[in-house]
Amino acid sequence: MTKKVKVLDKEFAINISHDEILTQIKKMADKINEELKGKDVIFMGILNGSFMFAGDLFKYITIDCQITFLKLASYQGTSSTGNVKRLIGLNEDIKDKTVVVLEDIVDTGITLDNIKKQLLGYEPAEIKFATLLFKPGSYTKDVKLDYVGFSIPNDFIIGYGLDYNGYGRNLADIYKIV
Ligand code: IMP
Ligand code: MG
Repeated sequence: MTKKVKVLDKEFAINISHDEILTQIKKMADKINEELKGKDVIFMGILNGSFMFAGDLFKYITIDCQITFLKLASYQGTSSTGNVKRLIGLNEDIKDKTVVVLEDIVDTGITLDNIKKQLLGYEPAEIKFATLLFKPGSYTKDVKLDYVGFSIPNDFIIGYGLDYNGYGRNLADIYKIV
């Protein structure tokens, strides 16, 4: 029988098991280890959603590197677009480094595009994007995703760091709404 969970008012059914997630993350890590060897690499986990992905991926990383975590804060003051979020928490110098942004999920790509624009201001040598999940059906940007774990349909999912109104992040597997 399909494993189901209830989070707040909604029901979710298992979609990707923890074992499948780890297998895929290991493959992503192997590719990163191979492609970024010898570079001055800093991983950048975007909170809150990426904390589990970042933690598991990092254990498979064998190259010399650093890791830090950033958060997108609601914009203070006026902004033309209304949904521009400021990247906060960067204390490290990333100038001339290879930055690998770690995201839980890329949907429209608006978040990723915003992160990219802000990071460019710190003059890194290059920026790579790694996301555990990608919804190609709703992607509206042309930012290249360098490392993708799973391409999935446009269903709402939770678990393994992803939330529904703040809940469900602690689920070890990934669940999709029913
Ligand atoms: P984007 O800016 O549209 O790419 O949205 C990215 C953000 O939306 C992610 O960082 C998540 O916080 C959230 N998000 C998008 N799809 C889902 C989902 O299926 N479940 C939970 N959060 C999601
Ligand atoms: Mg997120």
